[in-house]
Amino acid sequence: MLKIVVCVSGGGTNLQAILDAIDSGRITNTQVLAVISNNAGAKALERARDHGIEARALSPRKYPDREAFNQAFTEEMEKLSPDLIVLAGFLVRIPPQMVAAFSGRIVNIHPSLIPSFCGVGYYGLKVHEKALERGVKVTGATVHFVNDGMDEGPIIAQKAVDVEEGDTPETLQRRVMEQAEWILLPQAIDDIANDRIHIIDNKAMRRK
Ligand code: GRF
Repeated sequence: MLKIVVCVSGGGTNLQAILDAIDSGRITNTQVLAVISNNAGAKALERARDHGIEARALSPRKYPDREAFNQAFTEEMEKLSPDLIVLAGFLVRIPPQMVAAFSGRIVNIHPSLIPSFCGVGYYGLKVHEKALERGVKVTGATVHFVNDGMDEGPIIAQKAVDVEEGDTPETLQRRVMEQAEWILLPQAIDDIANDRIHIIDNKAMRRK
């Protein structure tokens, strides 16, 4: 059984997709140990509690500095001791000590086709704003392992989504979620839970 902790910051629709996929059997061999948010008001925490899952808020603002938060967050994670950490719309940079402690066991969903529109400053709606500004005709989403770079770890899966005439950042974000994110992330978790994915090192992975 793959034990996962899901980290969230906002609406939690990706978390919901994971919970629904576990309930419907599209994700097997997987148990959600807890959901952690940096934002106590996140709707995602409500979604977790409604599902009977332990939900915790851990805000960097409650700590004297980033290092103190990084330490507390990593210790919290070590206590939970998940097999996999899933970043599902989590807007906080993962502490380097957590990346080291959970090497090859952290995955993230990013709402673009990496390496486009990713890295520092590309999060949430900004990603879609930039895609529209550039005038790309196709965007999408990427699930990848997390290493100590920003959106740089080995790519697990990607799915393309068409940009349509008249799209706004909001309509594009919604289409990328519906057509890519909510499908890719549950699939990747199921692949990891059932041993179909193997991470080689911080730069590469392969399908078995
Ligand atoms: C998603 O687009 C995710 O890819 C991005 O932030 C958004 C979070 O949405 N990193 P939600 O909280 O899962 O609804």
